[in-house]
Amino acid sequence: MSDQPILGLDRAERETAGRLLTRFFEDYERSIPERPLVPEVDRDVLTGLLATPFPDKGLGVEGLFQEIDQKILPNSTTVAHPRFLAYVLGPPNGIAPYAEAIAATINQNCNFWQLSPAASVVERSVITWLGGLFGYDERAGGILTGGGSIATLNALTTALHARRPGFREQGLQTPAPRLVVYTSAEAHRCVDKAAALLGIGTDNVRHIPTDGRYRMRVEALEAAIRADRAAGREPFCVVATPGTVTSGSIDPIGDIADVCEREELWLHLDGAYGALFVLSERKREEFGACARADSIALDPHKLLFTPLEAGCLLVRDRGLLAKAYAFSASYLTVEEDPLMLDYMDYGPQLSRSFKALKVWSALRTFGVDAFRQAVDHTLDLARYMADLIEATPWLELMAPVSLTAVCFRIKGASEADHTAVLAELIGEGTALLGPAHLDGRRGMRACVTNYRTTRGDIELIVGRLSAIARRRGAVARTSDEVL
Ligand SMILES: Cc1ncc(COP(=O)(O)O)c(C=O)c1O
Repeated sequence: MSDQPILGLDRAERETAGRLLTRFFEDYERSIPERPLVPEVDRDVLTGLLATPFPDKGLGVEGLFQEIDQKILPNSTTVAHPRFLAYVLGPPNGIAPYAEAIAATINQNCNFWQLSPAASVVERSVITWLGGLFGYDERAGGILTGGGSIATLNALTTALHARRPGFREQGLQTPAPRLVVYTSAEAHRCVDKAAALLGIGTDNVRHIPTDGRYRMRVEALEAAIRADRAAGREPFCVVATPGTVTSGSIDPIGDIADVCEREELWLHLDGAYGALFVLSERKREEFGACARADSIALDPHKLLFTPLEAGCLLVRDRGLLAKAYAFSASYLTVEEDPLMLDYMDYGPQLSRSFKALKVWSALRTFGVDAFRQAVDHTLDLARYMADLIEATPWLELMAPVSLTAVCFRIKGASEADHTAVLAELIGEGTALLGPAHLDGRRGMRACVTNYRTTRGDIELIVGRLSAIARRRGAVARTSDEVL
């Protein structure tokens, strides 16, 4: 009988796996620009994946890589493609897949520090650096999460515990007044979701109207707070967005912070998309008031180009985070040994993966400047795309381009025209853009979250869009005449 552990690989298998993985990385990297953006889904293969029973005798390492090559890869979206400009989703940075493999190999459980001492410090160093970007000081803390939505859920949980000290024992099952959350009409749905999950209820989320630049209107916020107080309800939290998901608009954070201070409300920033633009010198001033927020959600799996999943919650006073989540006095070790944190006291999970390693590894490998440049590159390209659109008589921007989301429409074209043009652009394999809905108007949205995208890619997209729109007759006659 072999003394090979039953689920281990022997030396030859490890070598084979290493060789095949290196080849996979190499082939994938080279093929990215030629790969289909969206796969032509092979239903037979996918049905087979669903229906095929797992074998009693395994396929072995080579068999597995073959299945990945033949079945998984051809039916996967090419997120790294330079003209993948849908959603807010970017390609992973180059070192991250290696860091992920190492994290999986050492399998640290990032719950309490004795189980994962280095991981605890690595996560702390990442959190401290992120907090520092916004001007948070040593009292701040945070935790890496599965994404921005979870970070906002965890932030609102923390805010609830701070507002209602008996929340852990009683929940919201008390005669106390209804709590109200304020956010803008352009906020991400994760705010409603958090309110629903926490028992606040979406009826108690006010979507404050926005101004002509899609930013929360502060006087409307103040009026809504007054109306709720007059009706006996209890305003408790404002979620502002530095970078809304559709147009990238930046709420007036300083003015909202003034309101929150005056009204004693928790200020949370949903920075899942936008907060990390603080890395750009050009945006730093605009993000200056972020330090006044009680908590900030952001997403390394967007602008730090870490592979999914890596979100982050920062809280200005980490003691409040521990008050919400620590079920033992173990968080006192925060004071006893600032080097070692028990992350189970900072969030709802007990077992946690070593997400911080991929963030830390990328920052160590490439250095912070590389990320500043990558972020500036995406800002430049979005501006370039906006300029090309503005220079095209039959296209118009639907919103100012504050960050990297570019919402635009074909002048005078119907909703159906927009759908058809977008479908053709995607269908011919040129680019993946998404639809945009603003003020009840339909258009298209490109979001540059890709360090591989070039000016040539942007020119190609705008050129093809114009050609398709003209051929389909989606360009209004009056615009056509000036061509
Ligand atoms: C403003 C905003 N909030 C929240 C989210 C959700 O983030 P995640 O997908 O990481 O949960 C997004 C996603 O794009 C977003 O743009």
